[in-house]
Amino acid sequence: MSDTFNIGLGNNNPEVRKRSKTDFITFWEDQAKNLSWFSPWSNPLNWNPPFAKWFEGGLINASFNALDIHQQKNSEKPAIIWEAESGESRNLTYRDLWIEVQKFSNALKSLGIKKGDRITIYLPMVPELPISMLACARIGVTHTVVFSGFSSASLRERIEDSKSKIVITSDGGYRRGKIVKLKEVVDEAIQNFDFVKNVIVMERTKEPIQLNSKDILWKDLIKNASSECAPEKLNSLHPLFILYTSGTTGKPKGVLHGTGGYLTHIHSTFQWAFDIKDSDIFFCTADIGWVTGHSYVVYGPLLHGATEIMYEGAPDFPDSSRMWEIIQKHKVTIFYTTPTALRMFMKFGNKIPNSFDLSTLRLLGTVGEPINPEVWKWYYKVIGKEKCPIIDTWWQTETGGMMISSLPGIETIPLKPGSGTRPIPGVDISVVDEKGNEVSSNTKGYLIIKKPWPGMLLTLWGDDEKYKNAYWSKFPNTYYSGDFAKIDEDGYFWLLGRADDVLKVAGHRIGTAELESCIVGHNDVAESAVCGIPDEVKGEVIISFVVLKENVNKNSDILEKELYEKIRTDIGPIATPKEIYFVSKLPKTRSGKIMRRLLKAIAKNEIIGDISTLEDGTAVTEIQSAIRELQESITKKT
Ligand code: WTA
Repeated sequence: MSDTFNIGLGNNNPEVRKRSKTDFITFWEDQAKNLSWFSPWSNPLNWNPPFAKWFEGGLINASFNALDIHQQKNSEKPAIIWEAESGESRNLTYRDLWIEVQKFSNALKSLGIKKGDRITIYLPMVPELPISMLACARIGVTHTVVFSGFSSASLRERIEDSKSKIVITSDGGYRRGKIVKLKEVVDEAIQNFDFVKNVIVMERTKEPIQLNSKDILWKDLIKNASSECAPEKLNSLHPLFILYTSGTTGKPKGVLHGTGGYLTHIHSTFQWAFDIKDSDIFFCTADIGWVTGHSYVVYGPLLHGATEIMYEGAPDFPDSSRMWEIIQKHKVTIFYTTPTALRMFMKFGNKIPNSFDLSTLRLLGTVGEPINPEVWKWYYKVIGKEKCPIIDTWWQTETGGMMISSLPGIETIPLKPGSGTRPIPGVDISVVDEKGNEVSSNTKGYLIIKKPWPGMLLTLWGDDEKYKNAYWSKFPNTYYSGDFAKIDEDGYFWLLGRADDVLKVAGHRIGTAELESCIVGHNDVAESAVCGIPDEVKGEVIISFVVLKENVNKNSDILEKELYEKIRTDIGPIATPKEIYFVSKLPKTRSGKIMRRLLKAIAKNEIIGDISTLEDGTAVTEIQSAIRELQESITKKT
């Protein structure tokens, strides 16, 4: 029996879950009515598997719902309280944000940008990032935000795939007190891209930069822009954003989200999970470059007219008290972060958080990776002082918003550390075996989604076939999440990690195939295999095995350095392996598939199970010698 914690906010509204059980389409229709629509939909759901069209025919605008309606009610309410590492701060009210967004919308229009175009945004965590996104949304442009830690090669790939006409960036951004020169990365990324018409440069650091013919400074562009820009009345299915994420194949996938369904999902889950009140100060630590930032830094809080903290920089800089200091300073009431951050804070000890006034906190959340029960309990005791419910929210870039979470905004149920509890109302999630049959309780299986949900991705940008193959081909008419899970005797879901070749390092999604193809791109490398092994803080770290081409006579230190450098420039520092092992062969099936199961077991120093039943009769002795060599290479190094 696992521990349970009975804690609630007294917001029992069992009606919500009850209603969701009668008819999920009508249920979601009712939720959609909480948003402002210019005209109602004609069809709540057109389900042509695997393509779902939610609220077809309805006209809506995300920026109007995030700004105009709140600015009419309470224009002076702070929308974004921005904090930098240095302690520098900015405060934007709903009116400020509304004006800035309209000015920037007009500025974009003045560059010839129109509805249906795409714009890539490569900015640090500054208010101009949500301003850019909302301006795009206002005029019907699809935004594609690229995490500012990605390399120029990764950025280039995304700009090319989305055929963005404009890239919005800054001279630089701050991370651990150092300036990261973003504009230089963009210059390299757009070389020979004629379809990129302009680069808009926001001055964050004021360091001198080279301005090229396509470049325009943000401040010059908005100088004469009018502060009135009517929102476009967009079809519910209009593409709001593309967000690239790693999958099991080499190239990142462009997850495409629409407008009406996505907003409905985010609006509802933000309310149910965070129990948002007018007086709350909400703080989500995610970078907007990831989906959590899109849904619960930008759209969720703003759709509710909430006040939120936005933070630029590393959570432990200038020292490990930075987050607690912000919570105390701004009287934060809701804090949403990752297990990786919590594991790091926990390592620093209780003294630091205990020396701050965290008494304003009333609700805590986590996202992105499984949370270890002991970390959950630490969060509950030391940060929440045993009075805040913890929501452990499971979801994905593809789901748009939360899918499994406890929901203090509508119901009080006992919490179990390490379990996300139950699916949100109106979604149908289950755990099945290889054949697609539901497994009995406490049995590990694949997490699947049986019915469409409003935050569901529309498709993969420009690739319906890949969309079908990646998510809908393993089980018929069923969404395959790529995660393992089990359901316990009380109907609680326990997430058990990825079932595919996707890694979760410090909560970031990294595809093994993407990394392997980068490593193999080095001239001296013949083959490579990467896998993840457990790590105390990051949850998982990457290790990679490399087979060199014959006759390579560089020493392994030089090679190792070159490979690390290549990974950083091709993908970005987040994909850097903890270790690179040089070996002469990899364990493979006769048909040439690398046996990752074995690699992982070897790396974790686990006993290798029975290998006599390998697929297609692969030579066992050969595999055994590869295993021995891999094991030796690991022992030699550590
Ligand atoms: C993992 C992040 C356990 C999972 C929002 C999923 C989690 C992947 C949790 C999606 C959680 C996310 N518990 N695992 N609460 N939340 N995951 O697209 O493996 O960056 O498939 O979206 O993160 O990662 P993504």
